[in-house]
Amino acid sequence: MTSEPQVLIIELGGQLTQNIGRVLRESSKIRSAILDPKKAEVWLKKNQEVKAIILSGSGQSVTDEDAPKPPQSIFGLKRKGRHVPILGICYGMQYLAHRFGGRVEKAKEEYGKSGITSTSPTLLFHQTPQTQTVWASHGDSVITAGRGFKPIAQTSSGGVGAMVNLDLNIWAVQFHPEATQSEYGPAILSNFVKKIADCEEDWEPSNITESIQQEVLDQVGDGKVVLPFSGGVDSSYTARILSAVLGARLRYFTIDANQLREGEVAEIETTARFIGGDWRIISAHEEFASALSSLTYGPDKRLAFQQEYGKILISEALGFGATYIPQGTLAPDLIESGRTGGQQIVRHHNDLELEGFAMLHPLRHLFKYEVRELAKSVGLPESVHSRQPFPGPGLYIRVVGAPATPERIAVVRWADARAAEITKRHGIYKEISQLVVGYVATKTSGVRGDSPAYAGSALIRPFKTTDFMTGEGLYLPEPVVREISSVLSKRSEILRVWFDFTSKPPARTELE
Ligand code: XMP
Repeated sequence: MTSEPQVLIIELGGQLTQNIGRVLRESSKIRSAILDPKKAEVWLKKNQEVKAIILSGSGQSVTDEDAPKPPQSIFGLKRKGRHVPILGICYGMQYLAHRFGGRVEKAKEEYGKSGITSTSPTLLFHQTPQTQTVWASHGDSVITAGRGFKPIAQTSSGGVGAMVNLDLNIWAVQFHPEATQSEYGPAILSNFVKKIADCEEDWEPSNITESIQQEVLDQVGDGKVVLPFSGGVDSSYTARILSAVLGARLRYFTIDANQLREGEVAEIETTARFIGGDWRIISAHEEFASALSSLTYGPDKRLAFQQEYGKILISEALGFGATYIPQGTLAPDLIESGRTGGQQIVRHHNDLELEGFAMLHPLRHLFKYEVRELAKSVGLPESVHSRQPFPGPGLYIRVVGAPATPERIAVVRWADARAAEITKRHGIYKEISQLVVGYVATKTSGVRGDSPAYAGSALIRPFKTTDFMTGEGLYLPEPVVREISSVLSKRSEILRVWFDFTSKPPARTELE
């Protein structure tokens, strides 16, 4: 069985946080959970075995009124009578200095390649040169380390480059060891997790895949399994690795509820052919249309979608004689759906219990960025492993403020495909974590040719996030905005194009 990660990275708003996780996996073979402070707090209550904590960088200053703070419980955490080690990176270090009464000021700023010189031998800089090239990006600097801290390295501009409080086992560096330009960055992170925190290697894609396969084999015995398959990275990876061990005992299927995007049925079919085994597509346009066609309110659409989805799941399972249904539930889903404490924020269509069936959650300890790498490791093509997420109820919840009739779904499907094409052509699609395109059915007025017009609008939400729990709009370059507006507004049902760059919170990624 895969277990929880040993390292918790607390995301305080830095651009490079994902890199910390990637460097740990690639250089140290160690997994990590990347969570914002609130989710980190919830996660820590369940994961007392955590061995190391890393505080990320941030775009903010510790003196800002809304400066991000890690949960304070991290300072009291102990394992085997010792403080769980903490490493602050850049803002993380400034936060620590500030919290422990040190001085942080706008001074000695550094952007880009820089250098540090270690001033006393420590485990953190073990087997790295005394003076080394690092990547720095900070306007604020630590002028005096806080109570109990002593400087252990100097920046090239004479500031505190790194510091430690050995009593509390808190370490901090002013630069970014996770940036590729920091020559010995991987060694420094490895020293922290392995030498200081005693973490054991736990990231080996083939071992993780094998342990998931074994767990499912143990759970299902000689039973049969049906797997709903959306073509996304989670269900594709699950189908790929389970079909390898279950063979004819697995049937996987895709529901075409008219929720899918342009060309998606064909793409899913290609992936299924690649995976092989017993796959089928179930066409259910009419069933879903009649269940959803009169609903305006998003949560009602979600509930109706989930109910129809559940009915098909049951009939497929009964038809195949299966009692086991694996779901692609990931670690953050469990946190967001309120299962690990806290409130349910969103109804995910596949987060359901069906009486008489055992729902399996083989990916429950994994994060999206890990599943993407695992998917790559089992040979799934880039179109699958780097695929943007797409909500289960699909285009039904992309028609806003009106029932999602087949006609409106056709409009939003078309708009979505054009917006994706344009952003791809301009080379910006890959920077967007999720391009949400909606159709706002409320009519507004305009002029077409010489005649007055009255029609709905398209809404474009280019969303940037690391974990989908928080995030912000990605401002598109003006030529992209212009082209999207001009292309989409040619269609008679679309008179205007709205662009939505609101952050989450308060706005969710999806519109409904
Ligand atoms: P929100 O809107 O909650 O979305 O910020 C976060 C991520 O979850 C996806 N999402 C879903 N995925 N079934 C899914 O499989 C659903 O019902 C569902 N609703 C939202 C959303 O697309 C985003 O990536």
